[in-house]
Amino acid sequence: MPTSFFLPIIFVLLLVIFSLLIWMKSDRRYHTSKSVSLAYDAWTNDRLLETLWGEHVHLGHYGSPPRKCNFQQAKVDFVHELVRWSGLNQLPPGSRVIDVGCGIGGSSRILARDYGFEVIGISISTAQISRAMQLTDQGFKCDFQVMDALDLKFSNASFDAVWSVEVGPHILDKQRYADELLRVLRPGGILALADWNLRDQSDGQMNFLERIVIRQLLDQWAHPEFSSIAGFSANLQNSHFNQASIQTADWTSATLPSWTDSILEGLRRPLAISALGPEAIFKGLREIPTILLMRWAFSTGLMQFGVFRSRN
Ligand SMILES: C[S@@+](CC[C@H](N)C(=O)[O-])C[C@H]1O[C@@H](n2cnc3c(N)ncnc32)[C@H](O)[C@@H]1O
Repeated sequence: MPTSFFLPIIFVLLLVIFSLLIWMKSDRRYHTSKSVSLAYDAWTNDRLLETLWGEHVHLGHYGSPPRKCNFQQAKVDFVHELVRWSGLNQLPPGSRVIDVGCGIGGSSRILARDYGFEVIGISISTAQISRAMQLTDQGFKCDFQVMDALDLKFSNASFDAVWSVEVGPHILDKQRYADELLRVLRPGGILALADWNLRDQSDGQMNFLERIVIRQLLDQWAHPEFSSIAGFSANLQNSHFNQASIQTADWTSATLPSWTDSILEGLRRPLAISALGPEAIFKGLREIPTILLMRWAFSTGLMQFGVFRSRN
């Protein structure tokens, strides 16, 4: 084979390796909760996430078995599925609900509008809270405050229900997170929680490749640690504020299509992305390796989508 045949291949290979090295280095590692608030402030202010993911910063529910469905509709469906599964729909209108780590308020607004609850959404990100307020119609009983999930400024037993979706991976002290959620929940109240979980190590230690992947999934999106479904369930069950039995389920297969859809969404609406400016295109491309790794991890069982509820 002539050298001229190999040169372009070597060039492309070097380019790929170089880009991968840059991607692995240019992370958004977790140092303190400030890393999380800064990351979400940036993700909110550039509007890229909102353009692609809509007002819900969580995965969609595509049914069991998963069916073809619009990405943003699947996110709305997710909220209603979690309401049903957790039993939140058994609470009367006017019940007080806290949405811990509320993003820009997508779930909070559905809980207020469709179920008539009085909702308070809290997030560590100032930009998310101002955006949540902008997006919320004055007619809803739906309020938002900047607050740390580990230091909720509410007295014990002040809510009929506690809702928290995909917040756990950003929190290092999982026991304190579980304690705070259950402290503000009234006895007999309802807990509805969803989380990205790591396979429990009793089901198999991570191999070398899995450890590299998990390191990236932690470092790229300001995650200090993933807990397992069993591990976080034990945090809830053993909390001294817990008075109920904690039940869990695995929604990995129902939520899995979200990862491919989050990439396809950019291809389906290139004009919406380019309208945000050239920087948005690069920012969007930068997320693709992490999204693909997430998909791989969830599809191989390395990661699991856990949901948690309390039962009296
Ligand atoms: C993946 S987003 C989910 C947002 C929202 N639950 C939703 O479903 O659209 C994670 C959220 O957790 C919030 N968060 C992370 N750590 C937090 C903390 N210590 N206190 C309060 N909010 C936190 C982030 O600001 C963000 O709103």
